[in-house]
Amino acid sequence: MNQDELKTLVGQAALYYVEPGSIVGVGTGSTVNKFIDALATMKDRIAGAVSSSVASTERLQALGIQVFDATQVEELAVYIDGADEIDHAGYMIKGGGAALTREKIVAAQSRKFVCIADESKYVATLGSFPVPVEVIPMAAKQIARQFGALGGTATVRLKDGNPLVTDNGQHILDVTGLKITDPLAFESLVNQWPGVVTVGVFAFQKAHVCLLGAPEGVKTLMF
Ligand code: 5RP
Repeated sequence: MNQDELKTLVGQAALYYVEPGSIVGVGTGSTVNKFIDALATMKDRIAGAVSSSVASTERLQALGIQVFDATQVEELAVYIDGADEIDHAGYMIKGGGAALTREKIVAAQSRKFVCIADESKYVATLGSFPVPVEVIPMAAKQIARQFGALGGTATVRLKDGNPLVTDNGQHILDVTGLKITDPLAFESLVNQWPGVVTVGVFAFQKAHVCLLGAPEGVKTLMF
């Protein structure tokens, strides 16, 4: 099975966690796109979705799934999203698709975070994947210096030669060279730096369940 087929497998497996009649929290990315496609097969049995990005909203709506604004919903039973890395405790790096801020907001609104990922994302220690950090542009250089002091190297993410602009109108720094041995402490620290909108370490909003796609089938990890 190739990586794309593993993503399809976990995207379909995630339907198990969708409660009939509910509004579902939906993440962003190529794995979540498989989940959205699967969700469309039961669109008449759900009330709709809260989405974490413009891209996911467009895909949901194109498939006939009603999208609610996060402010219209008090609490979600489940949030389903991918990850760039996930460790043995359910801590994750996310934001490879630049949607980390809204992803963290919708995750915080949800009682359960179900991460869907192929097994290449499962790591012993977070940090091989560059940590995405959404920042207010005027603070980018100062924040990059602060990562430098931690031993990291921060680079502004580009799109077509210019800084990528997120759905929230901000920029992304990708930070390499970090080994994140204490994700809770790391997230707390970076959250305090002026100009940081969201750090792509999801420790406080960690996964409760991970559906990990492997050639032998879907493994369910509980945290
Ligand atoms: C987007 C994300 C994605 O969940 C993450 O990048 C994984 O994406 P994919 O399923 O395409 O590998 O955090 O901001």
